Amino acid sequence: MAIMSKFSSPYLLPSTLLVFFFIIIYLFSSFNYQALFTQNPSSSSSSSSSSKSHRNDQTVRQESPPNLHQDGHQIIPSSKPSQSVGERGNKKSSLEKIEEELARARAAIREAILTKNCTSDREEIYVPSGSIYKNPYAFHQSHIEMVKRFKIWAYKEGELPLFHNGPMTYIYSIEGQFMDELDTSGKSPFLARHPDEAHAFFIPVSVKRIADFLYERPNPHVFHGRLVRIVTDYVNVVAQKYPFWNRSSGADHFMVSCHDWAPEIVYDDPKFFKHFMRVLCNANISEGFMPIRDVSLPEYNLPMKSDNLGPPRLGRPAEDRPILAFFAGGAHGDIRKFLFEHWRDKDKEVQVHEYLPKGTNYHQIMGQTKFCLCPSGSEVASPRVVEAIYAGCVPVLISYNYSLPFGEVLDWSKFSIQISPTRISELKTILRAVPHSKFLKLQKRVMQVQRHFELNRPAKPYDVFYMVLHSLWLRRLNIGLPH
Ligand SMILES: *[C@@H]1O[C@H](CO)[C@@H](O)[C@H](O)[C@H]1NC(C)=O
Ligand SMILES: *[C@@H]1O[C@H](CO)[C@@H](O)[C@H](O)[C@H]1NC(C)=O
Ligand SMILES: *[C@@H]1O[C@H](CO)[C@@H](O)[C@H](O)[C@H]1NC(C)=O
Ligand SMILES: *[C@@H]1O[C@H](CO)[C@@H](O)[C@H](O)[C@H]1NC(C)=O
Repeated sequence: MAIMSKFSSPYLLPSTLLVFFFIIIYLFSSFNYQALFTQNPSSSSSSSSSSKSHRNDQTVRQESPPNLHQDGHQIIPSSKPSQSVGERGNKKSSLEKIEEELARARAAIREAILTKNCTSDREEIYVPSGSIYKNPYAFHQSHIEMVKRFKIWAYKEGELPLFHNGPMTYIYSIEGQFMDELDTSGKSPFLARHPDEAHAFFIPVSVKRIADFLYERPNPHVFHGRLVRIVTDYVNVVAQKYPFWNRSSGADHFMVSCHDWAPEIVYDDPKFFKHFMRVLCNANISEGFMPIRDVSLPEYNLPMKSDNLGPPRLGRPAEDRPILAFFAGGAHGDIRKFLFEHWRDKDKEVQVHEYLPKGTNYHQIMGQTKFCLCPSGSEVASPRVVEAIYAGCVPVLISYNYSLPFGEVLDWSKFSIQISPTRISELKTILRAVPHSKFLKLQKRVMQVQRHFELNRPAKPYDVFYMVLHSLWLRRLNIGLPH
C-alpha cells in the first residue's frame, strides 16, 4: 500500500479552482423521473438534434433550477464556467461528447414519457409494466439508454486485500459480488476501456475487508481512523493522478459497500465527500444517507457452499399459504426487542422466533407465509427483504429512516406493507384486516418484482446488478458537468 503514504489528509478544492470546476444540479425535487423530465417542457419538446438538445440543457440549467433548495442538496453554488481555460483541448471534447450523449439519453426518456412507448435498436426481452413501477415507460427507456451507453471506469490503483476484492458470502456478500462483477472479473460490458469515455468512476474499496484485516477489538477508535484514512488517501491519490475527481468534486464517483460501518468514511470530512455517491446496504437516512445522491443496496445472505446465488425458491402458490406472518432471527436492535416482547413464540398466526423450532426450514416456512416480517436489526437493512421476495411472501417493512432500494423506480407500496415500529403490538390486527383480494394483488406483484432482486453472475438486464447500476445511471443523468 505504498500509495497510502504519500498523502495524509483530505483537503478541499481551493476556491479559485471552483470557478472552473463546478457542477450544476438542474433537476431536483424528489428523485424520480417525473422530476427529471418535467422541468422545462417547452424547451425539451424541440430537442431533436444533439446539438440542440445540448443547448436546451444549458437553458434548462440556467432558466429553471427547480426546487433547488428543497433537499438542501445544492451542489457548489455556481459561478460562470470559464470559456478561457487553456489546456483542455482533448479532454474538453471527450467530456463534451459524454455530456451530449447524456443529453440524448434524457431526450429519449422524455420522449418515452410523452409517447408512452420506447425506442430501441434491439429486441426487448422485457417490457416493464404495471403498478410496481412509478413510471414504466421512463424506466424502460432509461434502462435501454443505460445498456446502450453507460460506461464506468474502475480505478486500477490499490492492492489486495483491501481493494479489488470483497466478501462473496454471508450477509455482506453483495459487496464482493458487485466488486467482482464490475471490476475484478474484467468482463462487465459496462467497463470503460479508457477513463475518458466513462460516465462514472468506481472506487474499488471493500469496507468489509478493511474491517477483516485492520479491526482491533480493544481500539475501535484507532480502527475508525484507519478506515477513514485508507479511503480518503485512495481518493486523494486518484484525484492527484487524474483530472476526474476534481472535475466533478466527486459527483460522478461511487463506492459500494454492505458493511455496517461504511457510512463512517465520510464523517471526518463531509465537505470533501459531499457529492460522492455511496451505494450502501446501511441506507439509514438519520446516519447521513441521502436518497438523492446515495443508492440503497439490497442485502443478501449467501451461504458458503451453494450453486445458487440468492435464497432458495420454496414459495407456494398464494392460495396455499396458511401462516399469516413469520419472522425468525437475532434479537438485536430496539425494534426487534419490541417485536420479541410482544410476539416471541406466542402466536400461531404471527410466528416470531429467535431460534427456529427444530426440524423446520426457514425458507420453506417463508414459502408458506403470507406476510414476512422484515424489522430492522442493529442496522436498517435486512436480507429478509430479498428472502421474502424470493419466497413470494409479501414483505412487511418495520423500520425507521430506511431508504428502500430502487425507490426512484419501484413503488414499494404496491408490493409490500409498511408498519410503523410503534404499532408492533397491533401486527395481527393490521395484517388480518388486509382483504384477501388485496393480499392476492400484493403477492402477484411480489412475484413480478422478483426479477429486479435476482442475483446473476454474469449479471443480466433488469436483475439486481443492473438495477444498482441503473440507480447510479439516473443520478449521473441528473447532473451536468461543464465543458
Ligand atoms: C411503439 O412504437 C413502435 C415502433 O417504434 C410501434 O410499432 C408500436 O406499435 C408502438 N406501440 C404503441 C403502444 O404505441
Ligand atoms: C485536484 O485538486 C487537488 C486539491 O486542490 C490538487 O492537489 C490536485 O493536484 C488536483 N488534481 C489534479 C489532477 O489537478
Ligand atoms: C427518522 O425517523 C423518526 C421516526 O419516524 C423521525 O422522527 C425522524 O424525523 C427521522 N429522521 C430523518 C432524518 O428522516
Ligand atoms: C439509524 O441511525 C440513527 C442515527 O445514528 C440511529 O440512532 C439508529 O439506531 C439507526 N437505525 C438502525 C436501525 O440502526
